[in-house]
Amino acid sequence: MSDFPKNFPMGFQFGVSTAAYQIEGAAEEDGRGLSIWDTFSRTPGTTRGGATGDVACDHYHRWESDLDLIQELGATAYRFSIAWPRIQPTGDGPANAAGIAFYDRLVDGMLARGIDPVATLFHWDLPQALQDLGGWGNRDTAMRFGEYAELVGEALGDRVKLWVTLNEPYIHLVLGHVLGIHAPGQQLGMDLLPVIHHQLLGHGLAVSALRRVSSSPITLANNYSPVWPKSESDEDQAAAMFYDLVQNRLFTDPVLLGEYPPIVEALTTADIDSIVMDGDLRVISQPIDALGVNYYNPSLISAPVEGEDLPFSRLDITGYPTTDFGWPVVPSALKDLLVQLRQVYGDRLPPIWITESGCSYAPVDDQFRIDYHAGHLAAVREAVEAGVDVRGYCAWSLLDNFEWAAGYDQRFGLVHVDFETQERTRRASFAWFREVCTSAAPRPDLQGEPTG
Ligand code: FCB
Repeated sequence: MSDFPKNFPMGFQFGVSTAAYQIEGAAEEDGRGLSIWDTFSRTPGTTRGGATGDVACDHYHRWESDLDLIQELGATAYRFSIAWPRIQPTGDGPANAAGIAFYDRLVDGMLARGIDPVATLFHWDLPQALQDLGGWGNRDTAMRFGEYAELVGEALGDRVKLWVTLNEPYIHLVLGHVLGIHAPGQQLGMDLLPVIHHQLLGHGLAVSALRRVSSSPITLANNYSPVWPKSESDEDQAAAMFYDLVQNRLFTDPVLLGEYPPIVEALTTADIDSIVMDGDLRVISQPIDALGVNYYNPSLISAPVEGEDLPFSRLDITGYPTTDFGWPVVPSALKDLLVQLRQVYGDRLPPIWITESGCSYAPVDDQFRIDYHAGHLAAVREAVEAGVDVRGYCAWSLLDNFEWAAGYDQRFGLVHVDFETQERTRRASFAWFREVCTSAAPRPDLQGEPTG
Protein backbone atom coordinates (compact mmCIF):
# COMPACT_ATOMS: atom_id res chain seq x y z
CA MET A 1 0.00 0.00 0.00
CA SER A 2 1.36 3.43 -0.86
CA ASP A 3 2.35 5.63 2.04
CA PHE A 4 -1.02 6.06 3.67
CA PRO A 5 -1.01 8.42 6.62
CA LYS A 6 -1.78 6.45 9.79
CA ASN A 7 -3.09 7.68 13.09
CA PHE A 8 -6.37 9.27 12.25
CA PRO A 9 -8.31 10.19 15.37
CA MET A 10 -10.32 7.49 17.08
CA GLY A 11 -13.68 7.16 15.42
CA PHE A 12 -12.63 8.88 12.18
CA GLN A 13 -14.89 7.48 9.48
CA PHE A 14 -13.98 6.49 5.96
CA GLY A 15 -16.86 6.41 3.54
CA VAL A 16 -18.02 6.82 -0.03
CA SER A 17 -20.49 9.26 -1.59
CA THR A 18 -23.04 9.10 -4.40
CA ALA A 19 -26.13 11.04 -5.44
CA ALA A 20 -29.56 9.79 -6.45
CA TYR A 21 -29.87 11.18 -9.96
CA GLN A 22 -26.31 10.16 -10.79
CA ILE A 23 -26.78 6.47 -9.99
CA GLU A 24 -30.38 5.36 -9.49
CA GLY A 25 -31.95 5.27 -12.95
CA ALA A 26 -35.53 3.90 -12.76
CA ALA A 27 -36.67 7.38 -13.68
CA GLU A 28 -40.26 6.34 -14.28
CA GLU A 29 -40.70 3.75 -11.56
CA ASP A 30 -42.81 3.49 -8.43
CA GLY A 31 -44.47 6.85 -8.88
CA ARG A 32 -41.32 8.95 -9.11
CA GLY A 33 -42.13 12.42 -10.44
CA LEU A 34 -40.10 14.40 -12.94
CA SER A 35 -37.09 16.30 -11.68
CA ILE A 36 -35.40 19.28 -13.26
CA TRP A 37 -32.57 16.98 -14.27
CA ASP A 38 -34.96 14.76 -16.27
CA THR A 39 -36.21 17.80 -18.11
CA PHE A 40 -32.78 19.30 -18.63
CA SER A 41 -30.90 16.18 -19.69
CA ARG A 42 -33.69 15.20 -22.12
CA THR A 43 -33.35 18.56 -23.82
CA PRO A 44 -31.04 18.19 -26.84
CA GLY A 45 -27.64 19.81 -26.54
CA THR A 46 -27.49 19.99 -22.75
CA THR A 47 -25.34 16.98 -21.85
CA ARG A 48 -22.44 15.23 -23.49
CA GLY A 49 -23.69 12.69 -26.02
CA GLY A 50 -27.27 13.42 -25.00
CA ALA A 51 -26.77 11.40 -21.82
CA THR A 52 -29.56 11.25 -19.25
CA GLY A 53 -29.94 9.63 -15.84
CA ASP A 54 -32.83 7.46 -17.06
CA VAL A 55 -30.83 4.30 -16.37
CA ALA A 56 -27.50 5.58 -14.96
CA CYS A 57 -25.99 2.78 -12.81
CA ASP A 58 -29.39 1.11 -12.42
CA HIS A 59 -28.72 1.31 -8.70
CA TYR A 60 -32.47 1.36 -8.00
CA HIS A 61 -32.46 -2.33 -8.94
CA ARG A 62 -28.90 -3.21 -7.97
CA TRP A 63 -28.74 -1.52 -4.59
CA GLU A 64 -28.13 -4.73 -2.67
CA SER A 65 -25.01 -5.69 -4.60
CA ASP A 66 -23.86 -2.05 -4.53
CA LEU A 67 -24.17 -2.06 -0.74
CA ASP A 68 -22.24 -5.34 -0.72
CA LEU A 69 -19.42 -3.47 -2.46
CA ILE A 70 -19.41 -0.82 0.25
CA GLN A 71 -19.35 -3.51 2.91
CA GLU A 72 -16.47 -5.25 1.14
CA LEU A 73 -14.67 -1.91 1.09
CA GLY A 74 -14.95 -1.76 4.85
CA ALA A 75 -16.34 1.79 4.68
CA THR A 76 -18.28 2.70 7.82
CA ALA A 77 -20.31 5.49 6.23
CA TYR A 78 -22.23 5.79 2.99
CA ARG A 79 -23.35 9.23 1.88
CA PHE A 80 -26.25 8.81 -0.55
CA SER A 81 -29.00 11.20 -1.55
CA ILE A 82 -32.75 10.94 -1.53
CA ALA A 83 -34.59 11.88 -4.70
CA TRP A 84 -37.21 14.43 -3.67
CA PRO A 85 -39.45 13.47 -6.65
CA ARG A 86 -39.58 9.87 -5.41
CA ILE A 87 -40.91 11.09 -2.04
CA GLN A 88 -43.15 13.88 -3.35
CA PRO A 89 -43.60 13.49 -7.12
CA THR A 90 -44.79 17.10 -7.47
CA GLY A 91 -42.87 18.51 -4.52
CA ASP A 92 -45.96 18.83 -2.38
CA GLY A 93 -48.42 16.74 -0.39
CA PRO A 94 -48.12 13.38 1.34
CA ALA A 95 -45.23 10.98 0.89
CA ASN A 96 -45.32 8.47 -1.93
CA ALA A 97 -45.20 5.16 -0.05
CA ALA A 98 -43.19 3.38 -2.74
CA GLY A 99 -40.54 6.10 -2.68
CA ILE A 100 -40.20 5.92 1.10
CA ALA A 101 -40.09 2.12 0.89
CA PHE A 102 -37.06 2.21 -1.41
CA TYR A 103 -35.00 4.33 0.98
CA ASP A 104 -36.31 2.34 3.92
CA ARG A 105 -34.86 -0.84 2.39
CA LEU A 106 -31.66 0.95 1.45
CA VAL A 107 -31.09 2.31 4.96
CA ASP A 108 -31.87 -1.05 6.56
CA GLY A 109 -29.51 -2.64 4.05
CA MET A 110 -26.72 -0.33 5.20
CA LEU A 111 -27.34 -1.00 8.88
CA ALA A 112 -27.38 -4.75 8.24
CA ARG A 113 -23.92 -4.37 6.70
CA GLY A 114 -22.49 -2.19 9.48
CA ILE A 115 -22.57 0.99 7.38
CA ASP A 116 -23.78 4.32 8.81
CA PRO A 117 -26.35 5.99 6.54
CA VAL A 118 -25.45 9.61 5.74
CA ALA A 119 -28.47 10.98 3.88
CA THR A 120 -28.47 14.09 1.68
CA LEU A 121 -31.94 15.55 1.17
CA PHE A 122 -31.19 17.64 -1.90
CA HIS A 123 -28.54 16.81 -4.46
CA TRP A 124 -29.92 19.03 -7.24
CA ASP A 125 -32.94 16.98 -8.41
CA LEU A 126 -35.73 19.44 -7.65
CA PRO A 127 -39.23 18.26 -8.57
CA GLN A 128 -40.03 19.80 -11.95
CA ALA A 129 -43.45 20.89 -10.66
CA LEU A 130 -41.70 23.20 -8.19
CA GLN A 131 -39.45 24.56 -10.93
CA ASP A 132 -42.60 25.37 -12.89
CA LEU A 133 -43.57 27.60 -9.97
CA GLY A 134 -40.20 29.36 -9.97
CA GLY A 135 -37.88 26.78 -8.37
CA TRP A 136 -35.47 28.12 -5.76
CA GLY A 137 -36.30 31.61 -7.01
CA ASN A 138 -39.66 31.16 -5.29
CA ARG A 139 -39.72 31.50 -1.50
CA ASP A 140 -42.40 28.82 -1.35
CA THR A 141 -39.84 26.20 -2.48
CA ALA A 142 -38.03 26.68 0.85
CA MET A 143 -41.29 25.94 2.71
CA ARG A 144 -41.87 22.86 0.56
CA PHE A 145 -38.32 21.68 1.29
CA GLY A 146 -38.98 21.95 5.03
CA GLU A 147 -42.10 19.79 4.63
CA TYR A 148 -40.24 17.24 2.54
CA ALA A 149 -37.47 17.10 5.17
CA GLU A 150 -40.08 16.34 7.81
CA LEU A 151 -41.58 13.50 5.75
CA VAL A 152 -38.16 11.94 5.23
CA GLY A 153 -37.17 12.54 8.85
CA GLU A 154 -40.34 10.84 10.09
CA ALA A 155 -39.64 7.80 7.93
CA LEU A 156 -35.88 7.41 8.38
CA GLY A 157 -34.95 9.64 11.30
CA ASP A 158 -34.48 6.74 13.68
CA ARG A 159 -31.80 5.18 11.48
CA VAL A 160 -30.01 7.85 9.46
CA LYS A 161 -26.80 8.67 11.35
CA LEU A 162 -26.04 12.04 9.78
CA TRP A 163 -28.29 14.33 7.75
CA VAL A 164 -27.02 16.56 4.96
CA THR A 165 -29.65 19.13 4.00
CA LEU A 166 -28.29 20.61 0.76
CA ASN A 167 -25.46 19.58 -1.51
CA GLU A 168 -23.32 22.43 -2.82
CA PRO A 169 -25.82 25.28 -3.03
CA TYR A 170 -23.04 27.42 -4.56
CA ILE A 171 -22.43 25.04 -7.47
CA HIS A 172 -26.17 24.61 -7.97
CA LEU A 173 -26.43 28.41 -8.09
CA VAL A 174 -23.59 29.01 -10.50
CA LEU A 175 -23.88 26.09 -12.91
CA GLY A 176 -27.68 25.91 -12.82
CA HIS A 177 -28.71 29.55 -12.49
CA VAL A 178 -25.82 31.70 -13.77
CA LEU A 179 -24.07 29.70 -16.49
CA GLY A 180 -27.10 27.59 -17.35
CA ILE A 181 -25.00 24.48 -18.00
CA HIS A 182 -26.78 22.44 -15.30
CA ALA A 183 -30.48 22.09 -14.58
CA PRO A 184 -32.58 24.17 -14.49
CA GLY A 185 -30.51 25.85 -17.21
CA GLN A 186 -31.14 29.44 -16.14
CA GLN A 187 -28.98 32.49 -16.73
CA LEU A 188 -30.14 34.97 -14.17
CA GLY A 189 -27.34 37.49 -14.58
CA MET A 190 -26.57 39.08 -11.25
CA ASP A 191 -30.11 38.80 -9.90
CA LEU A 192 -29.24 35.86 -7.73
CA LEU A 193 -30.28 36.60 -4.20
CA PRO A 194 -33.65 34.79 -4.34
CA VAL A 195 -32.00 31.51 -5.42
CA ILE A 196 -29.25 31.98 -2.81
CA HIS A 197 -31.55 32.94 0.02
CA HIS A 198 -34.29 30.40 -0.59
CA GLN A 199 -31.81 27.53 -0.68
CA LEU A 200 -30.44 28.73 2.66
CA LEU A 201 -33.91 29.24 4.09
CA GLY A 202 -34.80 25.75 2.89
CA HIS A 203 -31.74 24.47 4.75
CA GLY A 204 -32.87 26.25 7.93
CA LEU A 205 -36.44 24.99 7.67
CA ALA A 206 -35.13 21.47 7.06
CA VAL A 207 -33.00 21.74 10.21
CA SER A 208 -36.10 22.78 12.21
CA ALA A 209 -38.12 19.94 10.72
CA LEU A 210 -35.46 17.30 11.29
CA ARG A 211 -34.97 18.41 14.90
CA ARG A 212 -38.68 17.73 15.47
CA VAL A 213 -38.53 14.15 14.25
CA SER A 214 -34.95 12.89 14.50
CA SER A 215 -32.16 13.19 17.05
CA SER A 216 -29.39 12.58 14.53
CA PRO A 217 -26.79 15.25 13.77
CA ILE A 218 -27.28 17.60 10.82
CA THR A 219 -24.95 19.25 8.35
CA LEU A 220 -24.96 20.85 4.92
CA ALA A 221 -22.30 20.23 2.29
CA ASN A 222 -20.65 23.15 0.55
CA ASN A 223 -18.08 23.13 -2.22
CA TYR A 224 -15.01 25.07 -1.08
CA SER A 225 -12.01 26.20 -3.05
CA PRO A 226 -9.00 27.99 -1.61
CA VAL A 227 -8.43 31.12 -3.66
CA TRP A 228 -5.06 31.99 -5.14
CA PRO A 229 -4.83 35.61 -6.34
CA LYS A 230 -2.88 35.81 -9.59
CA SER A 231 -0.60 38.56 -8.31
CA GLU A 232 -0.06 41.06 -5.53
CA SER A 233 -1.72 43.80 -7.58
CA ASP A 234 -4.65 45.55 -5.91
CA GLU A 235 -6.93 44.55 -8.78
CA ASP A 236 -6.09 40.85 -8.58
CA GLN A 237 -6.30 40.90 -4.79
CA ALA A 238 -9.70 42.58 -4.86
CA ALA A 239 -11.00 40.13 -7.45
CA ALA A 240 -9.69 37.19 -5.40
CA MET A 241 -11.31 38.54 -2.26
CA PHE A 242 -14.64 38.94 -4.07
CA TYR A 243 -14.39 35.39 -5.41
CA ASP A 244 -13.52 34.00 -1.98
CA LEU A 245 -16.60 35.64 -0.48
CA VAL A 246 -18.83 34.26 -3.23
CA GLN A 247 -17.63 30.69 -3.34
CA ASN A 248 -16.43 30.12 0.20
CA ARG A 249 -18.55 32.36 2.40
CA LEU A 250 -21.85 33.21 0.74
CA PHE A 251 -23.43 29.93 1.82
CA THR A 252 -21.47 29.53 5.06
CA ASP A 253 -21.50 32.91 6.82
CA PRO A 254 -25.31 32.98 7.02
CA VAL A 255 -25.33 29.47 8.52
CA LEU A 256 -22.44 29.85 10.97
CA LEU A 257 -22.48 33.60 11.64
CA GLY A 258 -26.11 34.52 10.93
CA GLU A 259 -25.23 37.19 8.36
CA TYR A 260 -24.46 37.54 4.67
CA PRO A 261 -21.03 38.73 3.55
CA PRO A 262 -21.23 42.29 2.16
CA ILE A 263 -20.98 41.20 -1.51
CA VAL A 264 -24.63 40.18 -1.32
CA GLU A 265 -25.54 43.70 -2.42
CA ALA A 266 -23.83 43.05 -5.75
CA LEU A 267 -25.94 39.94 -6.28
CA THR A 268 -29.37 41.51 -6.44
CA THR A 269 -31.11 44.33 -8.23
CA ALA A 270 -34.06 44.12 -5.84
CA ASP A 271 -34.28 45.50 -2.34
CA ILE A 272 -32.57 42.98 -0.03
CA ASP A 273 -35.30 43.36 2.59
CA SER A 274 -37.90 42.21 0.09
CA ILE A 275 -36.08 38.88 -0.13
CA VAL A 276 -34.40 38.40 3.26
CA MET A 277 -37.37 38.70 5.62
CA ASP A 278 -37.30 39.35 9.34
CA GLY A 279 -36.31 36.25 11.24
CA ASP A 280 -34.97 34.35 8.20
CA LEU A 281 -31.36 34.56 9.30
CA ARG A 282 -32.31 33.16 12.69
CA VAL A 283 -33.83 30.13 10.99
CA ILE A 284 -30.80 29.77 8.71
CA SER A 285 -28.24 30.06 11.50
CA GLN A 286 -29.67 27.48 13.87
CA PRO A 287 -26.78 25.42 15.20
CA ILE A 288 -25.70 22.53 13.04
CA ASP A 289 -23.60 19.62 14.24
CA ALA A 290 -21.04 19.35 11.47
CA LEU A 291 -19.92 21.20 8.34
CA GLY A 292 -19.74 19.17 5.14
CA VAL A 293 -16.76 20.10 2.98
CA ASN A 294 -16.63 19.03 -0.66
CA TYR A 295 -13.18 19.73 -2.07
CA TYR A 296 -11.78 19.22 -5.55
CA ASN A 297 -9.31 22.02 -6.39
CA PRO A 298 -8.18 25.57 -5.63
CA SER A 299 -9.09 28.59 -7.80
CA LEU A 300 -6.62 30.95 -9.45
CA ILE A 301 -8.30 34.34 -9.73
CA SER A 302 -7.37 37.58 -11.45
CA ALA A 303 -9.06 40.88 -12.13
CA PRO A 304 -11.55 40.45 -14.98
CA VAL A 305 -9.81 39.83 -18.30
CA GLU A 306 -11.14 41.58 -21.37
CA GLY A 307 -14.62 40.47 -22.33
CA GLU A 308 -15.41 39.13 -18.86
CA ASP A 309 -18.80 40.20 -17.46
CA LEU A 310 -18.04 39.10 -13.92
CA PRO A 311 -15.93 41.05 -11.40
CA PHE A 312 -13.18 38.39 -11.61
CA SER A 313 -11.69 35.83 -14.00
CA ARG A 314 -10.90 32.21 -13.23
CA LEU A 315 -7.57 31.18 -14.74
CA ASP A 316 -6.15 27.74 -15.47
CA ILE A 317 -3.79 26.42 -12.83
CA THR A 318 -0.67 24.93 -14.38
CA GLY A 319 2.20 22.91 -12.97
CA TYR A 320 0.12 20.21 -11.24
CA PRO A 321 -1.14 16.82 -12.38
CA THR A 322 -4.62 17.09 -13.85
CA THR A 323 -7.57 14.71 -13.82
CA ASP A 324 -9.45 13.58 -16.94
CA PHE A 325 -11.68 16.59 -16.33
CA GLY A 326 -8.57 18.82 -16.45
CA TRP A 327 -8.91 19.72 -12.77
CA PRO A 328 -5.55 20.35 -11.05
CA VAL A 329 -4.67 18.00 -8.20
CA VAL A 330 -3.46 20.07 -5.25
CA PRO A 331 -3.82 18.14 -1.97
CA SER A 332 -2.00 20.77 0.11
CA ALA A 333 -4.80 23.23 -0.68
CA LEU A 334 -7.21 20.97 1.23
CA LYS A 335 -5.12 21.41 4.37
CA ASP A 336 -5.01 25.17 3.75
CA LEU A 337 -8.77 25.21 3.29
CA LEU A 338 -9.47 23.34 6.53
CA VAL A 339 -7.10 25.54 8.52
CA GLN A 340 -8.64 28.63 6.93
CA LEU A 341 -12.17 27.54 7.86
CA ARG A 342 -10.97 27.22 11.44
CA GLN A 343 -9.38 30.67 11.31
CA VAL A 344 -12.41 32.34 9.75
CA TYR A 345 -15.11 30.74 11.90
CA GLY A 346 -13.23 29.98 15.13
CA ASP A 347 -15.53 28.53 17.77
CA ARG A 348 -18.51 28.83 15.43
CA LEU A 349 -17.04 26.07 13.27
CA PRO A 350 -18.59 22.70 14.07
CA PRO A 351 -16.66 19.47 13.42
CA ILE A 352 -15.96 18.94 9.73
CA TRP A 353 -16.79 16.02 7.49
CA ILE A 354 -15.14 15.80 4.10
CA THR A 355 -18.36 14.88 2.33
CA GLU A 356 -16.72 14.63 -1.13
CA SER A 357 -13.28 14.52 -2.68
CA GLY A 358 -12.19 12.57 -5.70
CA CYS A 359 -10.93 12.62 -9.25
CA SER A 360 -12.08 11.71 -12.70
CA TYR A 361 -9.72 9.07 -14.08
CA ALA A 362 -10.88 6.27 -16.35
CA PRO A 363 -8.34 3.38 -16.22
CA VAL A 364 -9.12 0.42 -13.97
CA ASP A 365 -5.48 0.32 -12.99
CA ASP A 366 -5.70 3.72 -11.36
CA GLN A 367 -2.58 4.54 -9.40
CA PHE A 368 -3.51 8.15 -10.20
CA ARG A 369 -6.64 7.86 -8.02
CA ILE A 370 -4.71 6.10 -5.26
CA ASP A 371 -2.23 8.98 -5.23
CA TYR A 372 -5.11 11.46 -5.25
CA HIS A 373 -6.80 10.00 -2.18
CA ALA A 374 -3.51 9.29 -0.37
CA GLY A 375 -2.49 12.91 -0.88
CA HIS A 376 -5.82 14.32 0.23
CA LEU A 377 -6.01 12.05 3.27
CA ALA A 378 -2.51 13.16 4.22
CA ALA A 379 -3.70 16.77 3.92
CA VAL A 380 -6.65 16.02 6.20
CA ARG A 381 -4.32 14.38 8.68
CA GLU A 382 -2.11 17.48 8.69
CA ALA A 383 -5.12 19.71 9.26
CA VAL A 384 -6.13 17.51 12.20
CA GLU A 385 -2.62 17.87 13.60
CA ALA A 386 -2.97 21.64 13.19
CA GLY A 387 -6.06 21.51 15.42
CA VAL A 388 -8.96 21.19 12.97
CA ASP A 389 -11.65 18.76 14.11
CA VAL A 390 -12.32 16.51 11.10
CA ARG A 391 -14.51 13.45 11.65
CA GLY A 392 -14.78 11.70 8.31
CA TYR A 393 -13.73 11.47 4.66
CA CYS A 394 -16.12 10.29 1.95
CA ALA A 395 -14.52 9.50 -1.39
CA TRP A 396 -16.43 10.71 -4.42
CA SER A 397 -17.48 8.25 -5.69
CA LEU A 398 -18.31 4.59 -5.13
CA LEU A 399 -19.24 4.08 -8.79
CA ASP A 400 -18.66 5.75 -12.13
CA ASN A 401 -21.91 7.58 -12.71
CA PHE A 402 -23.86 10.25 -14.58
CA GLU A 403 -21.52 13.21 -14.21
CA TRP A 404 -24.16 15.85 -14.95
CA ALA A 405 -23.41 17.85 -18.14
CA ALA A 406 -20.35 15.65 -18.79
CA GLY A 407 -22.60 12.61 -19.12
CA TYR A 408 -20.85 9.26 -18.68
CA ASP A 409 -17.43 10.38 -19.92
CA GLN A 410 -15.95 11.48 -16.62
CA ARG A 411 -15.36 8.52 -14.32
CA PHE A 412 -14.94 9.12 -10.59
CA GLY A 413 -15.59 5.60 -9.23
CA LEU A 414 -13.53 3.35 -7.02
CA VAL A 415 -15.58 0.87 -9.04
CA HIS A 416 -15.69 1.00 -12.84
CA VAL A 417 -19.14 0.66 -14.43
CA ASP A 418 -19.73 -0.65 -17.94
CA PHE A 419 -22.86 1.30 -18.83
CA GLU A 420 -23.82 -1.17 -21.59
CA THR A 421 -23.88 -4.22 -19.34
CA GLN A 422 -23.97 -2.60 -15.87
CA GLU A 423 -21.02 -4.77 -14.94
CA ARG A 424 -19.07 -3.45 -11.95
CA THR A 425 -15.27 -3.86 -11.88
CA ARG A 426 -13.23 -2.96 -8.82
CA ARG A 427 -10.44 -0.56 -9.69
CA ALA A 428 -6.98 -0.80 -8.09
CA SER A 429 -8.04 2.13 -5.89
CA PHE A 430 -10.85 -0.03 -4.47
CA ALA A 431 -8.36 -2.49 -2.97
CA TRP A 432 -6.23 0.39 -1.75
CA PHE A 433 -9.16 2.19 -0.13
CA ARG A 434 -10.21 -1.08 1.50
CA GLU A 435 -6.80 -1.19 3.19
CA VAL A 436 -7.36 2.38 4.36
CA CYS A 437 -10.82 1.63 5.74
CA THR A 438 -9.88 -1.60 7.43
CA SER A 439 -6.63 -0.37 8.94
CA ALA A 440 -8.30 2.70 10.46
CA ALA A 441 -8.89 3.02 14.19
CA PRO A 442 -11.78 0.95 15.64
CA ARG A 443 -15.07 2.63 15.02
CA PRO A 444 -17.18 4.13 17.80
CA ASP A 445 -20.52 5.80 17.06
CA LEU A 446 -20.67 8.92 14.93
CA GLN A 447 -19.44 11.91 16.82
CA GLY A 448 -21.01 15.34 16.82
CA GLU A 449 -23.90 15.23 19.24
CA PRO A 450 -26.94 17.23 18.15
CA THR A 451 -27.09 20.57 19.87
CA GLY A 452 -30.75 21.34 19.18
C1 FCB B 1 -19.56 17.74 -7.10
C2 FCB B 1 -20.96 17.16 -7.05
C3 FCB B 1 -21.01 15.69 -7.33
C4 FCB B 1 -20.07 15.27 -8.43
C5 FCB B 1 -18.69 15.82 -8.18
C6 FCB B 1 -17.67 15.42 -9.21
O1 FCB B 1 -19.62 19.11 -7.36
O2 FCB B 1 -21.53 17.40 -5.79
O3 FCB B 1 -22.34 15.35 -7.60
O4 FCB B 1 -20.58 15.66 -9.65
O5 FCB B 1 -18.74 17.23 -8.11
